[in-house]
Amino acid sequence: MKELKLDIRVEKAQNSRLSEVDFDNIAFGKTMSDHMFVADYRDGEWQDLRIVPYDSFQLAPATSSLHYGQSIFEGLKGFRNAQNPEEVLVFRPEENAKRMNVSAERICMPSIPEEIFMEGLHRLIEIDRDWVPSTPDSSLYIRPFMFATDEFLGMKPSDTYTFAIITAPAGKYYSKALRVKVEKEFSRTAPGGTGFAKVAGNYAASLLPAKLAAQQGYDQLLWTDAKEHKYIEESGTMNVMFDIDGTFVTAPTLPVEDTILRSITRLTVIDLIEGMGHKVEERHISVDEVIESIKNGKLRGAFGIGTAVTIAPFAVISNDGEDFDLPADYTFSTELKAKFQGIQKGEIEDTK
Ligand code: COI
Repeated sequence: MKELKLDIRVEKAQNSRLSEVDFDNIAFGKTMSDHMFVADYRDGEWQDLRIVPYDSFQLAPATSSLHYGQSIFEGLKGFRNAQNPEEVLVFRPEENAKRMNVSAERICMPSIPEEIFMEGLHRLIEIDRDWVPSTPDSSLYIRPFMFATDEFLGMKPSDTYTFAIITAPAGKYYSKALRVKVEKEFSRTAPGGTGFAKVAGNYAASLLPAKLAAQQGYDQLLWTDAKEHKYIEESGTMNVMFDIDGTFVTAPTLPVEDTILRSITRLTVIDLIEGMGHKVEERHISVDEVIESIKNGKLRGAFGIGTAVTIAPFAVISNDGEDFDLPADYTFSTELKAKFQGIQKGEIEDTK
C-alpha cells in the first residue's frame, strides 16, 4: 500500500450489516457495504474528505443535478487476491479516475484529483475489506460518482458538487447468453453528444427503448449510429465484439468516435485476444455485415464487454423483425472471461 498523504476523516459504522448478507446469493447492486467515501467541492476546491457509514444524502428539492442531470459515474471491481485472500485487488483504477475526468469535462464539472479518487477508493476498500466476496463469479462492485449540489433552478454549471464512492458485493450481472435486438428507431446518443462520457443522462435515455425491446422478448439492444442506423456501436451498457472467422471486430472509440464509451474492460480484452494470437480490428461494422456473416456461417460468436458484465455472450441477434441464432457451441467468450478474471484475481499476471 502506498504512503497515505491525504487527510481523510474516518467515522466507523456502529453496527455492521455484513452478517445480513448471503454471499452465496448476491444480486448485482442491491446491497451496499457499510461505508462510503465522500468529498465536497466548495469555493473552488475539494474539501471535507471523509469515510462515513453508508447513509442517505440530504438534498434540497432544488438541487440542480436532480433537474438538469449534471451527474457522472464510474464502475470498477475489486477481488480477493487468489494468492493472498487478505489482499484486495482492484483492476486498473487509475484508468477509471482518468475517464471520470473526461466525463466531468464534458458536462462542465470540476475534475477530481487522481490522488483523491485513488486514496479514497483504497482506504474505503481497506475498511470494508470483509465485504469483498470470494464466491465464484462475484466481486466487490465499486461505484464512484459525482453530482451537482447547487440549490438553484437556473440553468448553469453548478458551483458546488459532491464526489462519493460506494461499494456493493455483487454476483453475476447476466445469468445467460443474451438475445439482442438491433435498434433502428431510438438512439443512445449522437455525434457531438455525450456518448463517450459516463454521464447519467445517457443511461436514462436508454431506458425506454430497452423496455420496449424487453416487451418483445429481448434482453438488450444493439445500438446503431444515430445518423443512418447502419453501423453497430454498443449493446445496452456494453461495448461489443464480433468474431468473424477468427478476426475480432469492435467499433472504434475516441478519438475516432465520440458516440461510444471507451470501456476499460474492452482495452484489456483487446490485449488478451491479440495475446492469444488473434487479429482485432477496431473499425465501423455495419448491421448488414453482421447479418451477412451470420447467413454465410462466418460469424462464430459475438459478445458484450463491460465492467459489470465482464464478457456477456449473445445467443440471438434480431434485425428488422427477424431473429438470427448465433452458434450455440461458441466457447471462446467463456475462455476469454476466465482469462480476464484470472488477471483480476491475481492468478494470471497483468502484463500492462
Ligand atoms: C458498468 O459496466 O460498470 C456499467 O456502467 C453498467 C452499469 C450501468 C450497471
